[in-house]
Amino acid sequence: MRFARTSVNKLMIAAIFATSSASAQNTTPVTGADVYQNRCAKCHDQAGSRAPAKDVLQKMSAARILRTLDFGLMMAVAYPMKRDERVAVANFLGTQGEDTPPPANAFCPAGMQPLSAASAPSWTGWSPSLSNARYQSAEQAGLSMAQVRHLKLKWAYGFAGDVTSFAAPTVLDGTLFVGSAGGVVQALDAKTGCVHWVFQANGPVRAAILPVRNGSSYSLVFGDLIGWVYALDAKSGKMLWKKRVDDHEASRLTGSPVALNDVVFIPEASWEENRSLDPQYQCCTFRGSVTALRVRDGSLVWKSYMVDAPQKTGVNSAGAAQWGPSGAPIWSSPTVDAKRGLLYITTGDNYSVPATSTSDAVIALGLKTGRIVWTQQVTANDAYTSACRTKGVNCPSTNGPDYDFGSSALLVHAPNGKEILVAGQKSGVVHAFDPDAKGKILWETRVGKGGINGGVQWGMASDDQKVYAAVSDVSGVMNMGGPVGGATFDPVQGGGLTALHLEDGAKAWFAPSHPCDPPKPGCSPGQSAALALIPGVVFSASLDGHIRAFSTEDGPTVYCSPSTRGGLQFCWSAGTKRARAGGTRSLCQ
Ligand code: HEC
Repeated sequence: MRFARTSVNKLMIAAIFATSSASAQNTTPVTGADVYQNRCAKCHDQAGSRAPAKDVLQKMSAARILRTLDFGLMMAVAYPMKRDERVAVANFLGTQGEDTPPPANAFCPAGMQPLSAASAPSWTGWSPSLSNARYQSAEQAGLSMAQVRHLKLKWAYGFAGDVTSFAAPTVLDGTLFVGSAGGVVQALDAKTGCVHWVFQANGPVRAAILPVRNGSSYSLVFGDLIGWVYALDAKSGKMLWKKRVDDHEASRLTGSPVALNDVVFIPEASWEENRSLDPQYQCCTFRGSVTALRVRDGSLVWKSYMVDAPQKTGVNSAGAAQWGPSGAPIWSSPTVDAKRGLLYITTGDNYSVPATSTSDAVIALGLKTGRIVWTQQVTANDAYTSACRTKGVNCPSTNGPDYDFGSSALLVHAPNGKEILVAGQKSGVVHAFDPDAKGKILWETRVGKGGINGGVQWGMASDDQKVYAAVSDVSGVMNMGGPVGGATFDPVQGGGLTALHLEDGAKAWFAPSHPCDPPKPGCSPGQSAALALIPGVVFSASLDGHIRAFSTEDGPTVYCSPSTRGGLQFCWSAGTKRARAGGTRSLCQ
């Protein structure tokens, strides 16, 4: 039950803030009525506006209103709002009660069990290997290059009540596990899409779900976007344990956990850049961290912060205290190097000054201790918050450039035998580091323009020959703090996929993006999603609603299957001789 759990969450937040001086600002109790008055009434009390009137909101469930604030139409309005304010206003306005469960006919027939197809192809966690290369052989994937052009829609599953779907699915032994914006984790049959079980988490679940062997079953470990980590039994969907890994209100878990033996590593990022849109917000106190937990009971092995505890540094022009250092969040899945006993993470920017040497960096931590062994920073003095977009008082003096690493470092073997780390940055640059020389930079190649929402975002892929880097480079207006609605993107600008040789970063080929056709509002050619790779084929999803398949040999020419009913198209590259020999195909533009 969503709200029962959320009230535990509130108690916990209050208890923790009582001991944390830097978070003293958060102790004032909030009432839903006050939040409504301050944050909603100006639109929802206005007769005749497009906004539904208060009495209409009062007929909606509190769960639906919370979802609208988290990842729905009111997301931009809610950016500065803390979690307890969201919960308070949702409970104040909405009706109580469970969300409607999936209809009975969506469930799998009796007797059909999860994890019952042991030899079926699997993709578990963020990457099937600890190297984060997001590569599978044709056997592992159950998919060869020759089959790619025959791909067509098999089934689709709608996330009830959500307006976005963003979670990376895990497939294991015939079962697909996936989170959602509404915080519902589902176990679906991979062949038919029928539902085995659903589990309601406290907050939205975006990160990939990691299965870790547990006797004859698996424990599924994942985090949510409000800072909770869970372990569920994969067969029954029953919760084994849950805990928060940090006391900060704005905690946000986007990076997928990874495990080595019986220890799971949880990377942590935050919403604090958005909270800073509020001039009264005391910016900033969040610190990026990795937490190592025992899989069996969630007990703590170690926790390692990427910046020192923040101190008060002054007062902003609206009179709110300022704190620093802060930030260096970890958005992506850590990379395990068992041979060297290291865990590699990539960090984002600082949120306030002083800037630290650990932001926009690749960092190696001891697997056993969490101690920082080396740090290689690629952009210095990058402190930034969302307030910089609106010339707000909580924009630090450095004003960006906001060049986070949003994606993992890949540990790969170059064809010359040398093991290297490669990481793509929002700046649009791909960097290679030497894991045997404290992360010394080996080469750097620009693959995109870069920017706040540009460059490499969620991830690259590599087959030990080349590294493939798609870029977002979306251009247009991001909606920060209203008016209502999503972002307005340029339908032509953005995207592009580059293949680089691993030895020296030289470009092997470039596949330009596909302008939106028709140029619908909200459509962008940006390729922000992480890539996936099988021998000969690299898959890239774009913000125009297509998944495209490119030849790893020469990339550029792309063909698509006829459009399916859902508007989703599979496209494949005709760059190779084999593919060119195929029949008539529709050209995808
Ligand atoms: C700047 C004006 C504005 C503010 C401030 C605002 N809203 Fe809205 N809200 C709207 C408009 C306009 C719509 C209708 C959007 C549409 O249908 O495209 C809407 C729609 C909604 C909906 C229905 C969404 C759905 O999925 O159907 C909910 C729920 C909602 N608002 C809740 C809130 C809450 C809670 C607050 C305060 C925290 C808030 N709004 C603040 C303008 C606003």
